[in-house]
Amino acid sequence: MAFRGPILLESPTVEAIPPVPPRILIVDDDDSVRDVISVLLREEGYNCVVASGAEMALDIAGQEETPLVISDMKMPGKDGLWLLEQLRERYPDTSVIMLTGYGDTESAVDCLRRGAVDYLLKPPKLTDLIRAIERALAKRRIELARKRYQKKLERKVRDRTTELRNALRDIANTYQATLLALVAALDAREHETSDHSQRVVRYTNAIAERLSIKGPELEEIGRGALLHDIGKIGVPDAVLLKPGKLTPEEWQEMRKHPDIGFQMIQNIPFLATPAQIVLSHQERWDGQGYPRNLRGQEIHIGARIFAVADTLDAMTSDRPYRKGTTFANAIAEITRCAGTQFDRDVVRAFLDIGEQALIKIKEDMHLRKLTLVQAEAQAQEAEATLARLSEDMDDMDQTIPGPGSPGPGPAPRGASPAPSASTPGPAVSASAPPARPEQPVVLSVLAGGRQGNPRD
Ligand SMILES: [Fe+2]
Repeated sequence: MAFRGPILLESPTVEAIPPVPPRILIVDDDDSVRDVISVLLREEGYNCVVASGAEMALDIAGQEETPLVISDMKMPGKDGLWLLEQLRERYPDTSVIMLTGYGDTESAVDCLRRGAVDYLLKPPKLTDLIRAIERALAKRRIELARKRYQKKLERKVRDRTTELRNALRDIANTYQATLLALVAALDAREHETSDHSQRVVRYTNAIAERLSIKGPELEEIGRGALLHDIGKIGVPDAVLLKPGKLTPEEWQEMRKHPDIGFQMIQNIPFLATPAQIVLSHQERWDGQGYPRNLRGQEIHIGARIFAVADTLDAMTSDRPYRKGTTFANAIAEITRCAGTQFDRDVVRAFLDIGEQALIKIKEDMHLRKLTLVQAEAQAQEAEATLARLSEDMDDMDQTIPGPGSPGPGPAPRGASPAPSASTPGPAVSASAPPARPEQPVVLSVLAGGRQGNPRD
């Protein structure tokens, strides 16, 4: 028997299952050739099916897995070449051996070029045929194993890529949370609870998008806007928190904050561009700003955009000593200062956004903040209710005598008096301690931001 199939490990306890011989499809319009080959191969242990033409062969190949097709080249109607091409396209895992007549080696070579694994001259010798079949099947097994391995590798690469992407996303989130914590630390020191920084980020992003800035550059500019005043952490309390006007010496201290902020973050590679924005966020288009009196395009584009966004927010926000003005007034003032304090192109982009869209940015942030406050309040209420319930349960446990206690014995839990109709809320016994006073709603510093400082 020629067919032996793959080698199986012998086991003393498990009976080996004989391998199923591979299905071989023999295609020839000549009955005698077809029958002789199939009979001989069956005797050798192969599982043979036959077809008298190319189209019939294609149908049979589609019915179940056919590892090998042995096909005549010349057949009436669709020929062997056509069948070869169809099989390669539809069933690329099927190997094809072509049978050619004498003097037709040219088309045999063409078949090899088109994907046949071998060709034999008709009529083939049995030994040659079997050798060609075994070679083709072995090659196919290797090819299938290679494909399986490749698929496994691809799956692994896909999984690792997803893991890596998730890890990068986590790192980015951590970075962002760290930046928010930094800003929150500054807010806490300045006793600010508003969300100036985050509003300025939104205005800055809106203007930047109008200037066709997108992707990582947009994100970096947003980070620069968020961190713009981070250097105020290094300004002494006596200056930063002074309620009255600053003396010229105190102003000198205050004006160090862009430099301090830059020094703080310049060595963090991820914050290299935001550091430039922090350093130049107090510069003016006309060179009258600080700390380096940069002018025009010497100022980082992020800082030029930020200057407009910051002014808009400062003018439209309430201060302890004054009410904020309208967006229309702020827009008019910013327009008036285009070319002196601000970059004209940036102001143009800013005006493109439109008053209503700018107001909406502020309203959306306010709504978001309210939702956060409500969520926080609901969470606190739920916690308080849980705490009350747990105390009530403790009290009830103490009033129920245990198995070893003197007296009439333990009363079943179900026999406890039901709460009176006048008892509000969940089941609370008459002896329950009074409800805890409502805790004040504490806003997460991360959820908010800081209010613009008049000394910016
Ligand atoms: Fe500033």
